[in-house]
Amino acid sequence: MEIKVLHSPLEKVCAKAILIPVFEGEERLEGPLGKIDEMQDQLLLGLIRSKEIQGKFREFHLLHTHTLPVSHVLVIGLGKRKDFSLDRLRSVCARGLRIARRVRIPQVAFPAGSFWGFDPLRIGVVAAEGALLGLYRFRKYVRREEEEAAQRFGVQEFLCVTEDREDLLSLEEGVRKGKILAECTIFARDLVNEPGNQMTPEGLAQAARDLASSYPIEVEVLDPEKMKELEMGCILAVAGGSVHPPRLIILRYSGGGKGDPILGFVGKGVTFDSGGISLKPAENMHYMRGDMAGAAAVIGALRAVASLRLPLNLLGVIPAVENLPDGRAYRPGDIIPSHAGKMIEILNTDAEGRLILADALAYARKLGASRLVDIATLTGGCVVALGHSASGVMGNNRELLDEVIKAGLETDEVMWQLPLLEEYTIQMKTPLADLKNSGGRAASPCTAAAFLKEFVGDLPWAHIDIAGTAMMEAEKIPYQQHPYLPKHGGTGVGVRTLALLAESFARKRGA
Ligand code: BES
Ligand code: MN
Ligand code: ZN
Repeated sequence: MEIKVLHSPLEKVCAKAILIPVFEGEERLEGPLGKIDEMQDQLLLGLIRSKEIQGKFREFHLLHTHTLPVSHVLVIGLGKRKDFSLDRLRSVCARGLRIARRVRIPQVAFPAGSFWGFDPLRIGVVAAEGALLGLYRFRKYVRREEEEAAQRFGVQEFLCVTEDREDLLSLEEGVRKGKILAECTIFARDLVNEPGNQMTPEGLAQAARDLASSYPIEVEVLDPEKMKELEMGCILAVAGGSVHPPRLIILRYSGGGKGDPILGFVGKGVTFDSGGISLKPAENMHYMRGDMAGAAAVIGALRAVASLRLPLNLLGVIPAVENLPDGRAYRPGDIIPSHAGKMIEILNTDAEGRLILADALAYARKLGASRLVDIATLTGGCVVALGHSASGVMGNNRELLDEVIKAGLETDEVMWQLPLLEEYTIQMKTPLADLKNSGGRAASPCTAAAFLKEFVGDLPWAHIDIAGTAMMEAEKIPYQQHPYLPKHGGTGVGVRTLALLAESFARKRGA
């Protein structure tokens, strides 16, 4: 699908359909939308007055018209004005294009002017994001005939229209940015949706190499021999049970000056998590193909930062392993060394994410990162605590935490802070080694973070737990509230937020 920005009076736009968002409980149409309705003898206003159109969020009506250059008017409910936000506009674009696809309308115009009361740049961002993310489907392994038909009749064109000449440049810039952010989110969704038999640690490394070959990104992949040299005892232990050797993927983007500080992103890349010897129950184990969503978010964010040519230095470190039970697997009771030197007693081989992150965080620090952000599908407890619509954030630095939370407010990926108390660190102590890898069920997202904290030294660090938000499996509510999210599978959560975090880091450095 192509997204275009058009400078034109709305009623003159030649397209197949025009998308008309309406507020709930208001007998008037926003900005230039009123003019459109005048040209069709106030058809919409009549339907609004008779309550046939109520404007409830998600509600839609497809009307045919003969008095406009467009043949269809797609009315979408915005909900109440008090709930209006850029996220609602993003959602309305997603919903509109999904309906257009369903009824085979190939071309949709959207009134994207600043009359909505927002900066046209941000309107452009959310319109492009909503359109592209909303239409996303993962159909790579579907070979049915109807799938071929679906490919032939997609929405071909999305026109963001403004009557205001002043809006034009910002709107164009926003659409460009939104397109990049959406494409990179989709790229991450595709990685998450690949099943474990395809997306092995080497598969993930290959995806990173492929990316680096077409962007200003350098990639380096460490194999187990190199990891033995570097004494990455945790990654090697977790990978022990799999025939797929582990990989440590290092991505570098140098958009800043030579001596400038380096922002480090670390992403959990467990390509399948069976739990290992502490085997998970069979029910729902298949979702653990998505246990590399943190890695996908980091790779996607690097792609976004490189596409946007942001002026900063960025490092991505991704430990990639598969966690399986086997004769060579690590076991509960084992004591293993970490790259940072600390010894770890294994209580549960299913607490593998924090182990591989411990080595990766310590290594990112060695590579010169001056601030670290890790992102991981780390704990089931985070799903219990926050559900599927908010990620958990913890860290050791107020300023960095605030920046992560702020970036999430802009992308509408909710980042909710959980506590990181001294008590949680004590909960991870053991008489047999420096740390144990599981503190039990109580406050598991927090004790997991307390464990990671031991490996970042004095660097400002934030940890994002996306266990609940990285993948949807028949979770209806997030999709209904934000139709740019998929009903099933990878969401690509974190890509947009990490990219904006990098942007704010670049801006601060420049200032
Ligand atoms: N990958 C899981 C966490 C997870 C659970 C992600 C549900 C997505 C959805 C992680 O490796 C894990 O198994 N964590 C354990 C840790 C426990 C053994 C201390 C957990 O949270 O149950
Ligand atoms: Mn696990
Ligand atoms: Zn895991």
